[in-house]
Amino acid sequence: MTEQIAVIPGDGIGQEVTPAAVEVLAALDLGFEFVSGDAGDAVKEETGEALPQATRDLVSASDATLFGAAGETAADVILPLRKQVESFANVRPATAYPGVDALKPDTDLVFIRENTEGVYKGIESEIAPGVTTLTRVITEEASRNIAEFGFDYAAQNGYDTVTIAHKANVMRTTDGLFLETAQQVGDERGVDYDTALMDALAMHLILRPEEYGVVICPNLAGDMLSDLSAGLVGGLGLLPSANVGHDNALFEPVHGSAPDIAGQGIANPTATILSGAMLLDHLDHGEEAGRVRSAVESVLESGPHTPDLGGEASTEDVTAAIVERL
Ligand code: NAI
Ligand code: MG
Repeated sequence: MTEQIAVIPGDGIGQEVTPAAVEVLAALDLGFEFVSGDAGDAVKEETGEALPQATRDLVSASDATLFGAAGETAADVILPLRKQVESFANVRPATAYPGVDALKPDTDLVFIRENTEGVYKGIESEIAPGVTTLTRVITEEASRNIAEFGFDYAAQNGYDTVTIAHKANVMRTTDGLFLETAQQVGDERGVDYDTALMDALAMHLILRPEEYGVVICPNLAGDMLSDLSAGLVGGLGLLPSANVGHDNALFEPVHGSAPDIAGQGIANPTATILSGAMLLDHLDHGEEAGRVRSAVESVLESGPHTPDLGGEASTEDVTAAIVERL
């Protein structure tokens, strides 16, 4: 059966790195049908809408989506898109590769971040002038979903260390439920895991990232700890991510539209190509995903490199080198 991939390049370097990732995916000859959709600043200027209904429909009708980046309209585009695929899990690997000048070269972490609730549920109010509140929502169902996903991810991807991040000593009711539910999932599976207070974990990740593997987190903690760990591995141009739902998923680089370098042909396509590898894994093309990662690793190790990694190569040079390694 032909698999349909929605491709939404968006703005700025999204227009450069997304075609690069499509080129790599197409080179695998899996018979994917790529269908492009519009989103972002440019389409908003033209039509008044940053995320046209046609693009939402395309995402729903596709087996998976590859998204580049949006500019000023990012929040109006990416938040609804993540909802469109009903993603409950945000997967954010932070892996240091040989050949890249990483702060901590032994880092190989994957954050499994709850993507639907916590403090990002959007329940805020101003109850009196100068007094505001926020409601933090943690449910057993969402906690179970993310924990099951996290333990599965660790088993399928060869990580033997799983850490549950929480702050249940202070947020006793909400993170108490998160922690208890995630521990239950680990116990049911009979696998080893650790638990860690998220603030102390932030320090340990900086000092000894090599001691950690998969980290299962509530929403805000996952957002912050994954950004923090991104700093350990050598730059935004390398970081992929996935937003995974039960029936659909969207893959995107962590970076934005990078207006400072857009249009120059020098954006690093690695983050988007590695997002493509995550897409392949998701669609059960694990062997091809491995081939893409090996090709990327080989090019990171021996070049060519784009300027963000200290080289002089273009987006096209790096993409061509990766396709050649495949
Ligand atoms: P950014 O990620 O676009 O850029 C930050 C810095 O990293 C810039 O110096 C940029 O040149 C560099 N950079 C990023 N990706 C790179 C790559 N692939 N290769 C080489 N260098 C790269 O974040 P910034 O500057 O905060 O935001 C720019 C625009 O992007 C804003 O309009 C923001 O709203 C939007 N944005 C969109 C996101 C999304 O669509 N998911 C996420 C973050 C920001
Ligand atoms: Mg963030």
